Amino acid sequence: MPDLTEPAPWWKTAVVYQIYPRSFADADGDGIGDLEGVRGRLDHLAWLGVDAIWLSPFYPSPMHDFGYDVADFCDVDPLFGTLEGFDRIVAEADERGIRVIVDLVPNHTSHEHPWFVASRSSRDDPKRDWYVWRDGGGPDEPPNNWVGAFIDGGRAWTWDEQTGQWYLHQFLPQQPDLNWANPEVREAMHGVMRFWLDRGVAGFRIDVVHCIGRDQSFPDDEPPWVGIPHCAINEHPSSHAYIREMRRMVEGYDGDRVLIGETALPGTHWVAPYYGEGDELHLAFNFAATHAPWDAERWRHRIVRLQEELDPLGAWPTWVLSNHDVPRHRTRYGGAEARARAAAVALLTQRGTPFLYAGEELGLEDAVVPPERVVDPGGRDGCRAPIPWEPTPGHGWGPEPWLPFPPDAAARSAEAQRGDPTSVLHLYRRLLAARKASPALRLGTLELLDVPDGLVAWRRRHGDDVRTTVLNQSEQTVAVALAGTVEVASDGEGEGQPFEGQVGPDTAVLLRP
Ligand code: GLC
Repeated sequence: MPDLTEPAPWWKTAVVYQIYPRSFADADGDGIGDLEGVRGRLDHLAWLGVDAIWLSPFYPSPMHDFGYDVADFCDVDPLFGTLEGFDRIVAEADERGIRVIVDLVPNHTSHEHPWFVASRSSRDDPKRDWYVWRDGGGPDEPPNNWVGAFIDGGRAWTWDEQTGQWYLHQFLPQQPDLNWANPEVREAMHGVMRFWLDRGVAGFRIDVVHCIGRDQSFPDDEPPWVGIPHCAINEHPSSHAYIREMRRMVEGYDGDRVLIGETALPGTHWVAPYYGEGDELHLAFNFAATHAPWDAERWRHRIVRLQEELDPLGAWPTWVLSNHDVPRHRTRYGGAEARARAAAVALLTQRGTPFLYAGEELGLEDAVVPPERVVDPGGRDGCRAPIPWEPTPGHGWGPEPWLPFPPDAAARSAEAQRGDPTSVLHLYRRLLAARKASPALRLGTLELLDVPDGLVAWRRRHGDDVRTTVLNQSEQTVAVALAGTVEVASDGEGEGQPFEGQVGPDTAVLLRP
């Protein structure tokens, strides 16, 4: 039984909304989103009902990985705005009851970061050991067989001609890995965290945090992992100690600042240890739903596994359908709006903190990006298409945004959908309101129900408050012996009416007693 009297930290009951600043809103009309664009849309987010925004990197960067290659952790890239502009966002979000989470990228910097420039300048530089330098077998033989991400089977090491050693990069060569075994690096990164905490951020989404610790003997990856990016499997125990240090540091601050780890590992049982004994991450991304196909059996299995693997640890789950690294869920599920709607009901009635990716509330699909407009080395342009705000031709953006718009942009625009109570946008708003009003949905237990094939159903309960979700992932209408009033339906049908015991194909309903 949960303790019904204990107040929960805000991040357990919050719905977090991810903003990829380049793609969100363009205030200066240069075709690239910016912080003033974000500020200008805070009213939209307040109207929608989100509790927190997480801003993907807006720091100075040469943009080889569109900002995940950071050249200065404590500033704003002029492309996106200024620190004062950031402070305005924090203040104006706060006025609307919205917290601001920023992205912390501790594993690597840009090759243009002054730390790396110093480190590569000479073997004797005081910052040499801030990065990972090894001899290997000379210029033709890297230190081991690790593969870097986004470089097509390419190695995770680059030879530096000037100083005659290899440096490690689990991602692009322009993203050298920091050496977390060096206490000065850890202290410097804590300084970065304090910089943002002092500016009032509610916490951090921490990029590939499972990657920061490494086996100092740098052994070869063994089969079956040979040839896949090392970051997909790297999880050396030392990462846990570094995360505990970060946790102790943020606990020195008031207001339940949160650490959310991007633990991009192959399953929840790999991710669970990163919650530690309540002394590591507060939340860790559960990417299960970003891989699971549109299939009731698989979804049910995911929910069971999450319960089995996290509940015994007292770890609070998270749910994610889309983000800036994977095709949008509507696209993954074949493009039907009905599925995207049903998935929204499932996401927002699960047990755990949901993360929305900007544009999913508009039911966006990935953009079709012609070869000449491809810009991302990781093939992720489609899900990063600009958000259409207005039905007019420019959709609220400068003349030529950095990527093409998603399909159907005029009809999908926020303005068009706000005027239509039957839209996906209004569905998200109703779901967020339902979640906010129900302790069962925010904090309750979750029990899977026995239902016919093709359906997944679960009951949430907190004290006397009860909600039930039925999701039909089959292509037929299925009868189910459940009673209640339809609070929210993915197709908007029958809300406020008694449930008639039938769920249509690719449809979900939320029932209250
Ligand atoms: C994370 C980010 C991704 C980035 C990578 C390297 O996976 O989500 O966008 O490319 O880390 O920083």
